[in-house]
Amino acid sequence: MIYFDNSATTKIGDEVLKAVLDTMENNFANASSLHRLGYETEQKIISAKKGIANIIGGKEDEIYFTSGGTEANNIAIFGVCDAYKKYGNKIITTKIEHPSVLKCFNELENRGFEVCYLDVDNKGYINIDNLINEIDDNTIFVSIMYVNNEIGTIQNIDEIGKKIKEKNKNTIFHTDAVQAFGKLKINVKYIDLMSVSGHKIHSQKGIGFLYVKNGVRLNNIIFGAGQQKGLRSGTINSEGIIGLYKASEIAYKNLNENFEKTSKIRKEIISLKDKIKDMCINGDEENGIPYILSLSFKDVKGEVLLHSLEDKGIFVSTGSACSSKNKKDLSTIYYVNENNLGSTIRVSFSFDNTLEEAKIFNNTILDIIPMLRIYTKR
Ligand SMILES: Cc1ncc(COP(=O)(O)O)c(C=O)c1O
Repeated sequence: MIYFDNSATTKIGDEVLKAVLDTMENNFANASSLHRLGYETEQKIISAKKGIANIIGGKEDEIYFTSGGTEANNIAIFGVCDAYKKYGNKIITTKIEHPSVLKCFNELENRGFEVCYLDVDNKGYINIDNLINEIDDNTIFVSIMYVNNEIGTIQNIDEIGKKIKEKNKNTIFHTDAVQAFGKLKINVKYIDLMSVSGHKIHSQKGIGFLYVKNGVRLNNIIFGAGQQKGLRSGTINSEGIIGLYKASEIAYKNLNENFEKTSKIRKEIISLKDKIKDMCINGDEENGIPYILSLSFKDVKGEVLLHSLEDKGIFVSTGSACSSKNKKDLSTIYYVNENNLGSTIRVSFSFDNTLEEAKIFNNTILDIIPMLRIYTKR
């Protein structure tokens, strides 16, 4: 089996699994319990928080654990916009955000906020000058994704964060870093809030975190027993947190090595361009994140290609590019060439993948694309 769908989710790592099982067995007590067992769990959570904060250049008390990226995005967006609405009504995002951001903005628009959805160019980049022009005294919040989940474009988040504050120091800046964390060196110096998900970096599903810079205010969207300073009530998911911490440590220990490895895999697959007609790379071929590659093949249906590859034991995804143009959440239409809509697949890698797998993928593509094209033309 060749698993090239790592941006959808990853397989739990061996060491991560070991740490999770150990926590379930030996630190099962509720971290809020006052007895010794509760205290021991709490200590493990505190060291995980410290370790994660250290990785991103933040502080221990700026980390809030969530059930994943979707919840972190919802808490950040609704929490900030509700807390700051008395200072302004304008909020800004991009047209290519993940639905867990885009749909929050749609909802806030329904509730009366003025929302600006920024365009991107054909490689998926926002125009930073346009963003800055849109920011005025009334702008309370900006959310821009770090790495796009469909084509892998990396926005210049540091420059964006810095320029937002230069224009309006009161505008709060959030980034969805779900496809960036564990893959890029990240420092939160110019970021007010950041969402991360564990299952994209070989941790388990159902765990993530939201970074919130000290001083940024959030109104609660979840009410309960007041865990995590009341921002995210609910019994602390200790095994989730320990798994996420272990996966983060592993990812950051080998960051450069993994980057190089996946770059070679991505490059190998890009080389298909010289061997097959009418194939195009969506996004930034040169500078996109090496973990994601979006490919379009003229006259081939993305879903048919996905299943043909599956028949050969290769697992990829279509992203949302296979949908019709009318679909509301179809961000891909902004950067996939019009003629290629419906024929796009996303291959996404992890440090677990090998160059050999990329070569097998290429040979399989060379075998099946001509056949699928004949079939389409019939
Ligand atoms: C960019 C981005 N944001 C948010 C999410 C949602 O994360 P989760 O699955 O942890 O809720 C995803 C998942 O695909 C994503 O790729």
